[in-house]
Amino acid sequence: MADYAAVTKAVIPAAGLGTRFLPATKATPKEMLPVVDKPAIQYVVEEAVSAGLDDVLLITGRSKRSIEDHFDRAYELEEALRAKDDTDKLALVRESSELAHVHYVRQGDPRGLGHAVLCAAQHVGSQPFAVLLGDDLIDAKDRLLERMIEVRQRYGGSVVALMEVDPEQVSQYGCASISPTADADVVTVTDLVEKPVPGEAPSRWIVIGRYVCDPAVFDVLRETQPGRGGEIQLTDALKTLAGDDFGADRGGGVRGVLFRGRRYDTGNKLDYLRTMVQFGCERPDLAQEFVPWLRKYLDDLR
Ligand code: UTP
Repeated sequence: MADYAAVTKAVIPAAGLGTRFLPATKATPKEMLPVVDKPAIQYVVEEAVSAGLDDVLLITGRSKRSIEDHFDRAYELEEALRAKDDTDKLALVRESSELAHVHYVRQGDPRGLGHAVLCAAQHVGSQPFAVLLGDDLIDAKDRLLERMIEVRQRYGGSVVALMEVDPEQVSQYGCASISPTADADVVTVTDLVEKPVPGEAPSRWIVIGRYVCDPAVFDVLRETQPGRGGEIQLTDALKTLAGDDFGADRGGGVRGVLFRGRRYDTGNKLDYLRTMVQFGCERPDLAQEFVPWLRKYLDDLR
């Protein structure tokens, strides 16, 4: 295995406007919307920590306070619970403040995911780093991020997570042109297209919200012009890194891990509802009552 620097830091962009979820996101970041009883972003921080990354940089924007408060101590609440001897709830309250070393950078103007990642340049320095989107949940049992870190250790460059979708869905996402490698679940990404015109997508493999980036991405992002939607797109920078002009000696090359596990998008209303129902059905403390209720509710709808 080549001697590439270890991945130790996670960057979680959470500064988007969340317009697909208005009015809930008028004063609350969409990453703070609960999935059952935890904000989505806590699951994402937990995933980073379970992949061995406990240095976590959150890119926040307007209404960032609730995010900072969530990962901080809550002395008054803790005192009140202690006075009641409610140790279970006290543990729940303290859990999020003890999870990781959480740092913050503010993205003043939400100029796109690529711009949000560029805000991490100073904190990250010259090491490879992971990017986890704060509204995209991956089942921790599927160990996607660990696999992506292994792939980076083996091949260098950057790594994206790819999921196969129906042809009619491809045009909503960033889509990858791919060729096989010796590893069955790893491909070389030869090109990336953000939201391809229907019928012109190079494959059915779309980029989902996990990345391991070579620090070379920062220099490329500084040069990347606003793309689709007037935003600086991370996909455009990765496309440059995947291109023939950008050699491995300069941190180029992009691999894709083919992911067949479970992913939950909490950034739009319909997928959020699906996520909530699935998590509710799988929670041992809720499923016993929730599942029969849901069955009856659906029967009554017929
Ligand atoms: P999205 O495109 O899903 O977020 O970005 P958005 O712009 O908030 O969504 P809508 O379309 O208005 O509903 C993916 C991730 O990148 C972050 C978002 O917070 C989300 O986690 N992001 C996006 C930033 O941090 N800054 C940006 O400028 C844009």
